[in-house]
Amino acid sequence: CGIVGYVGHRNALDILIKGLERLEYRGYDSAGVSLVENSDVKVFKCKGKVADLKKELEGQDTKGSTGIGHTRWATHGAPNDVNAHPHYSSDSKLAMVHNGIIENYEALKAQLIEKGHVFHSETDTEVFIHFIEQIQKDNDCELDRAVRIALNEVVGAYAIVITSKDNPGQLVAARKGSPLVIGVGEDEFFLASDATPIVEYTKNVVYIKDEEVVLLKDGNMTITDIKNVVQTPYLQTLELELEAIEKGGYDHFMMKEIMEQPKSVADCLRGRVIANKNHVKLGGIINHFDDLLNANRIVIVACGTSWHAGLVAEYIIEELVRIPVEVEYASEFRYRNPIIGKGDVMIAISQSGETADTLAAMSLAESKGATVIGVCNVVGSSIARNSHEGAYTHAGPEIGVASTKAFTAQLTVLTTMALMLAKEKGSLTEAQLHDLLVEFESIPAKIEKVLQVDDAVKEMSALYKDAKNFLYLGRGFNFPVALEGALKLKEISYIHAEGYPAAEMKHGPIALIDEEMPVVVIATRDSSYDKVVSNLQEVKARSGRVIAIVTEGDALIPSMVDHVIEVPDTHEVLMPMISCIPLQLLSYHIAVMRGCNVDQPRNLAKSVTVE
Ligand code: G6P
Repeated sequence: CGIVGYVGHRNALDILIKGLERLEYRGYDSAGVSLVENSDVKVFKCKGKVADLKKELEGQDTKGSTGIGHTRWATHGAPNDVNAHPHYSSDSKLAMVHNGIIENYEALKAQLIEKGHVFHSETDTEVFIHFIEQIQKDNDCELDRAVRIALNEVVGAYAIVITSKDNPGQLVAARKGSPLVIGVGEDEFFLASDATPIVEYTKNVVYIKDEEVVLLKDGNMTITDIKNVVQTPYLQTLELELEAIEKGGYDHFMMKEIMEQPKSVADCLRGRVIANKNHVKLGGIINHFDDLLNANRIVIVACGTSWHAGLVAEYIIEELVRIPVEVEYASEFRYRNPIIGKGDVMIAISQSGETADTLAAMSLAESKGATVIGVCNVVGSSIARNSHEGAYTHAGPEIGVASTKAFTAQLTVLTTMALMLAKEKGSLTEAQLHDLLVEFESIPAKIEKVLQVDDAVKEMSALYKDAKNFLYLGRGFNFPVALEGALKLKEISYIHAEGYPAAEMKHGPIALIDEEMPVVVIATRDSSYDKVVSNLQEVKARSGRVIAIVTEGDALIPSMVDHVIEVPDTHEVLMPMISCIPLQLLSYHIAVMRGCNVDQPRNLAKSVTVE
């Protein structure tokens, strides 16, 4: 979910709506705002997107220079008008927006019902604000104190912002687990789940820490912890530029982000890989580099696309460095009493740096004595802050819900890490390392080149846009790319797609193949090329329609398959950064042709801060 808040001298609604539009990638099942004006707390909310909320607001009295807003990704309760945020206290004096989950809300709800509270929604949030209201009444205290008391009782994760009828020029906010940042202006404050709604007003920000409670009142900011110990805010300057979060002439963020990859990969490599000096270094991990180098085992945890980047890293690290690597879904790892401890290193990969399951897996590993390295895109995110050390992917803000440039940047960081380890360990000769670094430096230019297939991919997409199923096959370093290609298609076009190791196809999916079934085979020239060619023939023999991703100049495959897409040649460990690109384009064009909302696919959210 996405949260925004404003208190100051401007018309709050304009800031809230613009902010919600920026945060909409975090969830878009329902949206709402609350405005405080002349001691009146008004709430407007509805099912659907921010655009629906705007319609709802037409002709309404929306004055007020204090307000909060929310765009929701449903957890408790269906996405409908009633369950949308903000939620009121029973006396309608308080309104609250909340991101996260209150785990003990059933118990709190039962207590409150006994005290006469009536609930209108199925949400944990409504319980939360009634609970705060009850505490304020019982203690006859200020709102911030009531919030502190409440936070000592609730179990779960939250970022909350509350408006109050009794104090129109005031916001109270708090966080634990879910992100929240304060923008500090001249006699005005902004609050948001990330900095994108804030950047056009101020670059001075304070990231709220876990279990801190913020009171923004009369131009002053007071931060305490939940025990009421005053905290000193750490004021930071945002490095984000406004252009980075706008579409810049493209129809969709996703296309902009696909096209940005030559630059984002170059940004990620800058200063880290310098081939002519045989230099390869991630400055962010040097203090724990020895832990990595001497690790018994590296355990990678992540979710979604980041998990696919982790799988590629497993292949690369084991190949180049010979340290055993395991890759786990964060959500599985944390609930199965995993074997991990001192001497092991966990690498947590996350675009947003806020994925709840990944965060939980990290703290579990840390509590058992493992070293935790974060690989995140969002600077200052929870995963970045909660790891021992880490490396940023520097891809810039990724707004399209389907991850593209963050994935290639993750591969860039993980490959750099592998090469850094290989160099130190001596598992590659100087010459081998040098050749790889030279090749690595050429990746941005090769991505630029592969992007030229866009028109051809678009043409091909028209032929396959109505397919009901797709199969993606790859082997070795390209196996995770097959998984990622299938995920991209599923996410944004709603076509069922499966990624499979090419050789494993004969143990099941081959039964699905007929003339209706497009099969995307990543068949670039590498150590498994000959085997992949055999697999591809197995598909053709069953009348499957094959789209092959091949290395430039491949003379064999074009005669065997229905379509080929050529990509520049590179070393096989680097190929995933190139071979994934036509698959991103394929899913994009198919989704657009099917009339899907590419940047905000149904049911998904960009950052999943619930477990
Ligand atoms: C969500 C997004 C995916 C993303 C995954 C992991 O499901 O829709 O695109 O890959 O979360 O997110 P993270 O921010 O941890 O990489």
